[in-house]
Amino acid sequence: MIETNGLTKRYGALTALDDLTLSIGAGEVFGFIGPNGAGKTTTMKVLSCLLRADAGSASVCGLDVRTSGDEIRRLIGYMPDFLGLYDDLTVDEYLQFFASAYRIPRARRRGVIEQAMELTDLRDKRDAMVDSLSRGMTQRLGVARVLIHDPKVLLLDEPASGLDPRARIEMRSLLLELARMGKTLMVSSHILSELSEMCTMIGIIERGKLLYCGSIKDAYARTRSLAGAERVAVRLEAEGPGPAAVRTALETDARVVRVVADEETRTLVVEIAAGVHGHHFLIEGLIKSGARIASFQPEDVNLEDAFLKLTTGAIQ
Ligand SMILES: Nc1ncnc2c1ncn2[C@@H]1O[C@H](COP(=O)(O)OP(=O)(O)OP(=O)(O)O)[C@@H](O)[C@H]1O
Ligand SMILES: [Mg+2]
Repeated sequence: MIETNGLTKRYGALTALDDLTLSIGAGEVFGFIGPNGAGKTTTMKVLSCLLRADAGSASVCGLDVRTSGDEIRRLIGYMPDFLGLYDDLTVDEYLQFFASAYRIPRARRRGVIEQAMELTDLRDKRDAMVDSLSRGMTQRLGVARVLIHDPKVLLLDEPASGLDPRARIEMRSLLLELARMGKTLMVSSHILSELSEMCTMIGIIERGKLLYCGSIKDAYARTRSLAGAERVAVRLEAEGPGPAAVRTALETDARVVRVVADEETRTLVVEIAAGVHGHHFLIEGLIKSGARIASFQPEDVNLEDAFLKLTTGAIQ
């Protein structure tokens, strides 16, 4: 659905996109993640035919962005990071304006607008002035606007930025609904965890270079191995050997970096070396030591930490 090949864009001496190659299939929800200035907006503008690349190629629905601008514009909905809103218009008038701009026949306009308002939960706000909407509503209006011409592909630039937790959850369920409707989505964000739950695929970009592109599952595995030592908290039952004895048994394993034992609470915190996958060896070691496990709690990997490691070029 979306393909780029060696895409490069320079602004003077600055290379905003550096040999960017990616491929997004139909029906995917692609999370485009990168810090400020990474090149997310630039990529989306090239795909929306608003900006010309200096080298490489890009296509949407098999159409070349350089030669098929008009057709592509009909097939995509691009929501920029900042919506140019219009004062003195109500929500309904605003959507009517875009419906006429997209040349939706007059007879169909009402239905299309009602559908877009329904999907984005804006029906109650149809008579509200656009500049009186909250940030969350404004972002939803931005989505409503790009749905008017029923595009196949949606390019949404930071739709969840500046939203409170509830509005973010609402935005996420709206995007999932769009995916269920069969649309292909490219959604940017600078926060990995904001998108990770809803994406089928992610791309991580920094300084114009794509550092990672693939399934979310592989990304987690990769970030996990980069996240450094992992910790597991183990609590022992009152019967059986105590924490100190168990610690001595566990410390012989090279995969165990450190064990902190607390006699009073009968707990152990076991630090596992970076890059070790799975906890089987640890459970086996515990059982071999005669320990009776009351609880076994691996600490969550800090995704944001791992993401920072990814984007400082730990992998290239
Ligand atoms: N019109 C422009 N003229 C000069 N430099 C630009 C222009 N637009 C973008 N840049 C530069 O290109 C780089 C990529 O910018 P871009 O807006 O694509 O990043 P982004 O990933 O969208 O960042 P953000 O998360 O802040 O939105 C940045 O270094 C930016 O300063
Ligand atoms: Mg941007």
